Amino acid sequence: METKRASWASNLGFLMAAIGSAVGLGNIWGFPYKMGKSGGFAYLAVYALLAIFVGFIVMASELAMGRKTGQGAMGTYHALTKKFRWIGWLALFSPFAVMGFYAVLGGYCIEYMALNLSNFAFGSESLATGGELFAAMLSNPAGAVLFAALFLALCYLINRSGISGGIEKFNNVGMPTLFVMLVVIIIRSLTLPGAMEGLKFMFVPGYAVEAGFVAETPSLLSVFASAGGQMFFSLSLAMGAMITYGSYLNQKEDLVKNSAIIVFADTLVATMAGIAVIPAAVANGIASGTPLDQIKLGGPNLLFVTLQDVFRAMGTAGALFGVIFYLLVLIAAISSAIALIEVDITYFLDRAEQKGRKGNRPKVAFLVCLAIFAVSVLVGIDGLGTTGVFPWPATAGWNDSMLDFVDMLSEGLAMPIGALMMSIMVGWEIRPQTVLDELHIGYTGRIDTFYRICIKYITPIGMLLVLAGQVNDFFS
Ligand code: PHE
Ligand code: NA
Repeated sequence: METKRASWASNLGFLMAAIGSAVGLGNIWGFPYKMGKSGGFAYLAVYALLAIFVGFIVMASELAMGRKTGQGAMGTYHALTKKFRWIGWLALFSPFAVMGFYAVLGGYCIEYMALNLSNFAFGSESLATGGELFAAMLSNPAGAVLFAALFLALCYLINRSGISGGIEKFNNVGMPTLFVMLVVIIIRSLTLPGAMEGLKFMFVPGYAVEAGFVAETPSLLSVFASAGGQMFFSLSLAMGAMITYGSYLNQKEDLVKNSAIIVFADTLVATMAGIAVIPAAVANGIASGTPLDQIKLGGPNLLFVTLQDVFRAMGTAGALFGVIFYLLVLIAAISSAIALIEVDITYFLDRAEQKGRKGNRPKVAFLVCLAIFAVSVLVGIDGLGTTGVFPWPATAGWNDSMLDFVDMLSEGLAMPIGALMMSIMVGWEIRPQTVLDELHIGYTGRIDTFYRICIKYITPIGMLLVLAGQVNDFFS
């Protein structure tokens, strides 16, 4: 009987999968807009500092804890701590919430890809605008649910094939492909007349306000909270994903180096994604005479309205760029989704193993995807709050759609609370040495003092500030 736990086939394969998990919708629609709105290079600097002193430290800790226990998120917290076992539950819950909207947005990408493909193949003189298309899509809940199901079916096929046979294989092909496509889109974007304005929006501090893209400069606390929250979500932290991926990693690998590579790659792709989408969106807005304060550069609008208009304006060639672009976003979404789904699959497989049984991966994968689908149905039929199925209060803020609501539960609450508790647990309960011992198996350089200070003081204080900022933004 097979008793050995599954593992990655190679360290490179693990890296591709971990980077795949990190690089997701967060990079493409969250980062560029927040960066422009909150001070350009200044925001990038705050983000980078947080990524080094908090993100990198938490990344290394999660990978180390997972590898040490050889268990997923829940099993890891059960094995390591008495007081903080319940953090495991947060990690199990998050995939349902995040995937609830991820699958719907992934489904939209499939729809847009198909649409651009048919425009490219058959041509179309009177193409609908991005706004019309998106409105039509949102008001068609059946379509949203169907394409979310298709997205989840793709994920299921990968997850059911296992760690090295499914997840690693997909990312080994998907990540290099994504990178090449990103470069193609960047070249197209930067050669459009007016692209410079978009670059200025992203990189020149204060320009977003000065030029009228956004109304006002956000407060320091909210910049900090925005950068911190974005960084955690973007690096796939505090949701059990990196613990789970780490648990399948070979003892001899260097976790410190791996963590640094993942953090660097995710930040690089986020910046590149910004250079790919923002200049194109701004250039097209300028060309069509849209006032700067009306060009939508954030959230679902950027992906599904503003950018679709960019491709539409380019005619047949634009349809081809549209196919490439939405495929790129789809790959990014899938590689993140399979990491989230794996958190829950691993939980059930670990549990079966503890009871002396060998879990049935395909069956577990199916049931996890099915449960996620139930949440996606709610998000899908809500149509970003436009269908009126759920009575969201008409006030602006977080809860004006099902997407915002599940996002608040996961990204807004479960994640920062989980990260805060995790750093307190490592820093003060099980002690930093536990993690350091694991890190030093594959890494011989110096890190001890830096790690201790970060995990005991800097990370908890940083997470408290992020939480304070989120709460503050919520009530203002
Ligand atoms: N990192 C992904 C993104 O940037 C989201 C994600 C979070 C994926 C947690 C897996 C786990 O979109
Ligand atoms: Na990311």
